[in-house]
Amino acid sequence: MARSQSQLPVWLHWLDTCPSTNSWAIAHRSSLRHGDVVFTPQQTAGRGQHGRVWQAPPGVLTASFVLESISVAQLPVVSLGAGLSVIYAVEDLLPNLQNTLRLKWSNDVLLDGRKLAGILCEATANGSMGRVIVGIGLNCCVDFEQAGLGADAIGQALSLHQVVPIVPEALALLERLRHYLLQTAGLLQPKHNANESTGLTALLPALRNRDALLGHTIIVETDSEQVAGEAVGISDRGHLLLRLPNGEVRSFVSGHILWQKH
Ligand code: BTN
Repeated sequence: MARSQSQLPVWLHWLDTCPSTNSWAIAHRSSLRHGDVVFTPQQTAGRGQHGRVWQAPPGVLTASFVLESISVAQLPVVSLGAGLSVIYAVEDLLPNLQNTLRLKWSNDVLLDGRKLAGILCEATANGSMGRVIVGIGLNCCVDFEQAGLGADAIGQALSLHQVVPIVPEALALLERLRHYLLQTAGLLQPKHNANESTGLTALLPALRNRDALLGHTIIVETDSEQVAGEAVGISDRGHLLLRLPNGEVRSFVSGHILWQKH
């Protein structure tokens, strides 16, 4: 349903439809401020991680959040903080799900091992400090079969309406997401982070607590190789730590998790 902008909080830009909220936020960056949120109930050409197309069937909450004064080098760390923000926002509004959501490095939020939300963080800065757009796609009331997804994709994805009787309204979810993202940004901004290289230290215990990969045997696929090992944690730079069969621990700045054994 279309909303009049005057009924909405000043930080919320509600678009009836748009190709991609991340692209819109980047294109309109000069008129957006720290804490602004771009939301659409109908995203027609979403973008995902690793340059993939990201389709949002009806029932996915699609929104982008503007965070300022963050160094471009912190992008991997912002992604992890954004994952925790999704977890906390959903669990705040749905106490029955308390302590059930997990973060699959680096950008996926899981529930019962299935993907509930994906995150795409993009920097818009030219220099070293600037602005990050945090794009979030959260499965709220998605009918995966009607959306034409194959059995494999359906098995790997989960929508909130499958696990709770009443799904929170978009506005409530956006407000909670914004709250936690602003908190994360506060930890990462230089004034609160004078002695740390990335600002992630404060988040590491929570990340470890919510790490879906920890202790699992996985394969990390990078542009040049596939590496198997045991996930042993996340470094203070936000890198995935993998213990190889020979005992060596390697860190990965980015990569795709191909396989996960429970
Ligand atoms: C992924 O899982 O690959 C990341 C998906 C991120 C999708 C969100 S939806 C809102 C924002 N706008 C986009 O075009 N992408 C992100």
